[in-house]
Amino acid sequence: MLSNATVLAMRADLPSVTSRLYLNTGTFGPLPSVTREAMRQHLDWATKSGRIGSAGLARWHELEADARAALATALGCRPEQLALTHSTTDGVNTVLAGLPWQAGDEVVTGSVEHPGLIDPLAHLAETRGVVVRTVGTTDGRAVDSVTAALTERTRLVACSHVLWSTGEVLDLAGILAAAGARDIPVLADGAQGAGAIPVDLTALGCDFYTVSGQKWLCGPSGTGALYVRPDRVDTLVPAWRSYVTNDRTPGTRGDKPWPGARRYDVGAISLVALAGLTSSLRWRLGHGMAAACAQAADVAARLRTRLADVPGLDVADPGGPTPFAAVALPAAVPPERVVARLEADGIFARWIPGTPPMLRASVGPWNTDEECERFVDSVRGLVR
Ligand SMILES: Cc1ncc(COP(=O)(O)O)c(C=O)c1O
Repeated sequence: MLSNATVLAMRADLPSVTSRLYLNTGTFGPLPSVTREAMRQHLDWATKSGRIGSAGLARWHELEADARAALATALGCRPEQLALTHSTTDGVNTVLAGLPWQAGDEVVTGSVEHPGLIDPLAHLAETRGVVVRTVGTTDGRAVDSVTAALTERTRLVACSHVLWSTGEVLDLAGILAAAGARDIPVLADGAQGAGAIPVDLTALGCDFYTVSGQKWLCGPSGTGALYVRPDRVDTLVPAWRSYVTNDRTPGTRGDKPWPGARRYDVGAISLVALAGLTSSLRWRLGHGMAAACAQAADVAARLRTRLADVPGLDVADPGGPTPFAAVALPAAVPPERVVARLEADGIFARWIPGTPPMLRASVGPWNTDEECERFVDSVRGLVR
């Protein structure tokens, strides 16, 4: 858990958290002031120095290396096990495009996935004749449902680590054990994982794990990473090759892909964004990732308890340490209207489509109980 002084220090670094009631880190995390400064500094330098020449090249490599190193620290892996991407969805597409599919092969996926996974899977089904089998992964059923759906044709399990609807944390270790026993790789969508809950990819041993920079890691848009377990690197065929995917270390011919996950870099990532991502990661790491995640989960648990007292709300409480609170609203209350009214009050939350649609608050370690009380009071007024 964090001390009050640390929470206050984090808040002081996040102008958008004090000018608004910010309960939507699950969409875009608040940008720290130091990140704006890091981005501005790089932009100033590039504008003045012209980006090119040996200093420009060195700076490019340094910005990439720094981002990869900071991501590796945050995710509990080594830098060479990460590809730099623009988003979680980029990582999904890299894996799906790289596996050697045959028509009739099967992918097992979860019942509450984000379009960032659903849409690439639909594309795979349409273009390659792959069968997508969707199984119930809510309410603690994930391991049993996935295990029951595995067949000789299953080539991949692809599901969230943390559900974007309610914040339920799936038993990824259990899923990995079940799939791994049949040598089936698992692609985890970690958009709501990394930075929301502690993630140690080396301990977890996930085959593929894809993350967003702009959510819980508080980085700029257009940043992300894909973890590829070392023994899986050669099982993907890179969907494309580019200047950045090949090893161009002086003395090499530059015609071979990097030995690790770096061969899956998407390339052409804004260097301003990379400077910002590294800054945000260092900012988050500097406050202790595990302690901050525990803090956010604690505040969210108290928020769920408060929401449960509001007549008409049905709390979709997944239990467990997760920084989300999600409620089903009464049928007569359109969720989009609630979100718009909250926004008019300076409160940022979001609604999640589904049956029923839900109102979701995603709580950062910088959010306080007082803020949650204000949120509950506003919601109470809107559903009355
Ligand atoms: C579970 C999940 N997966 C994927 C995404 C898409 O992330 P990105 O925009 O980084 O591709 C989101 C975004 O909200 C998400 O919640």
